[in-house]
Amino acid sequence: MRCVDDFRLRFGKKELVPIVVGGMGVDISTAGLALEAARLGGIGHISDAMVKTVSDRRFQTKFVSEKLKLYKYNVANPDKSAVMFDLGHLAEATMRHVGATMEAKRGQGLIFINCMEKLTMNAPRDTLRVRLRAALDAGIDGITLAAGLHLGSFALMEDHPRFRDAKLGIIVSSRRALEIFLRKNARLNRLPDYVVIEGPLAGGHLGFSMDWAAYDLRTIVADIRDYLEAEHLDIPLIPAGGIFTGSDAVSYLEEDAAAVQVATRFTVTQECGLPPKVQQEYFKASESDIEVNQISPTGYPMRMLKNSPAIGAGIRPNCEAYGYLLDSNGKCAYITAYNREVAAHPEAKKLSVMDKTCLCTHMRNYDCWTCGHYAYRLKDTTRRLPDGSYQVLTAEHVFRDYQYSTDQKIALPA
Ligand SMILES: Cc1cc2nc3c(=O)[nH]c(=O)nc-3n(C[C@H](O)[C@H](O)[C@H](O)COP(=O)(O)O)c2cc1C
Repeated sequence: MRCVDDFRLRFGKKELVPIVVGGMGVDISTAGLALEAARLGGIGHISDAMVKTVSDRRFQTKFVSEKLKLYKYNVANPDKSAVMFDLGHLAEATMRHVGATMEAKRGQGLIFINCMEKLTMNAPRDTLRVRLRAALDAGIDGITLAAGLHLGSFALMEDHPRFRDAKLGIIVSSRRALEIFLRKNARLNRLPDYVVIEGPLAGGHLGFSMDWAAYDLRTIVADIRDYLEAEHLDIPLIPAGGIFTGSDAVSYLEEDAAAVQVATRFTVTQECGLPPKVQQEYFKASESDIEVNQISPTGYPMRMLKNSPAIGAGIRPNCEAYGYLLDSNGKCAYITAYNREVAAHPEAKKLSVMDKTCLCTHMRNYDCWTCGHYAYRLKDTTRRLPDGSYQVLTAEHVFRDYQYSTDQKIALPA
């Protein structure tokens, strides 16, 4: 019986353990977690979501309070179009986060950064250009383009000296999304180095509508493989979403996947950014405690624990401090929903907004507990401690379990 370690992900001459720990925004996939994956010979992701906040936490910079100071006058104004990002600060925050991570890298693996197009930041092109180029400048091994079609993202890097040497990949959830991406970028004569195919059971935002349950990862992978074969394109494919055991991973590797991308099992590791109390909520969850809802202002459905504090919270939008989801006109679906509730309940001291959430604030505070479909199985991956809590794992333990387990077994910690 084969295990994941019988396979290798090949990038040119480089051979890697075919396990990619996916990006988990706003520092859930910390540098520490990504570094462990790289040390063990796989690929780890950091994320550049709300990178100024991450820099403030990691390096005691003051980017967020400086931005808030600048735009404080606008806090009560429903029109957020004046709230812009300082591109110099954005570059500096990205360079610090990436630079410090790359400096700490040990071992044969790689560190990639997850870069979501949906973070439109009131100036989508300009901010994305800065984010991508600063990550390359700071020496990132690779960039995974996520949460969007990214039709113009390669062009934003095309004249960067590392455009052809850094690994560049994209996450898609359908053959059609990949087709459009490849067609749009054909003139650059530069294929993606890998394609992550994210199915409907993943954590975070889903590239499906609310009929996500009608889709299945294996079918999408086969469809994309057929398409690439017909086009004579050789691009490593990396399935993601619901790959919970080493055996699940092997089943894809045997079907010619180059690697697998996994995330949910790493949410309950010491290196993950989620606070210990939140990790216990992930462990405790049963299948009926998990839902896919539409509260994300991005418009993508998102899977999360139903008891996430983000659901129903009616806080004032914090765009002057954050504002990562403002579109190019300074609008966000949460602001609209919040103002509707304010108008409907002018006397209320505390509001509840059910249909949308202030995702920036709640992701920043670890109050939006997004997870993969199989989060309810996390309790089966560890032991109960005498006080009734679940033992948090090490990233190494989970990584090795994926790497060596067979027969659908999951190794419990010592
Ligand atoms: C807590 C959490 C946060 C996530 N955040 C992001 C993100 O910021 N960007 C992204 O592209 N994918 C995100 N994802 C998706 C993962 O990177 C990964 O592709 C997917 O969850 C893999 O499926 P699995 O969790 O079933 O292993 C997130 C997943 C989780 C569990």
